[in-house]
Amino acid sequence: AGKLFQFKLVLLGESAVGKSSLVLRFVKDQFDDYRESTIGAAFLTQTICLDDATTVKFEIWDTAGQERYKSLAPMYYRNANCAVVVYDITQVSSLDKAKAWVKELQRQADPNIVIALAGNKSDLSARRVVETEEAQAYADEAGLLFFETSAKTATNVNELFTSIGKNSKLE
Ligand code: GTP
Ligand code: MG
Repeated sequence: AGKLFQFKLVLLGESAVGKSSLVLRFVKDQFDDYRESTIGAAFLTQTICLDDATTVKFEIWDTAGQERYKSLAPMYYRNANCAVVVYDITQVSSLDKAKAWVKELQRQADPNIVIALAGNKSDLSARRVVETEEAQAYADEAGLLFFETSAKTATNVNELFTSIGKNSKLE
């Protein structure tokens, strides 16, 4: 018989980097050009097969990136098995914000939490300001999984969540 793993996953990152869009792509394979900013947080689930013997169910908390909701975040990351910290490759400030979230998670979340850094909006390459190598070097140094993603084109979205599932399973 196969194994079923259940993981609580939290998404964190500055407002408008595309957290909700990544979840919508992963859960429903859809994308909206005009998404409303999240209020508080949203809860969704998605189940994936890692291989014919292993199923992973993600319980996903998509948090609100606006500053006024910042104090709610610990409620969502406290019991999380995994986290996706998102920045936007066209906004330098969003990488700084992502680094601050990683620091907070590494201090306050479960010591075994698996953290992935996602550089989203990779389809907007003409407006790129964060180089892949720079983010990869930071991710390596901080011990994070790293993917550049596009919720719009679906690039690397399934790869991101599959990698988190595999790495969380190993903990
Ligand atoms: P908050 O809920 O305020 O924290 O924002 P968020 O991080 O959830 O961002 P959201 O998913 O709402 O996306 C913000 C805007 O960016 C929307 O207009 C999306 O359509 C757009 N967007 C999200 N992902 C991508 C992407 O991969 N490429 C492009 N071009 N646009 C994207
Ligand atoms: Mg949102």
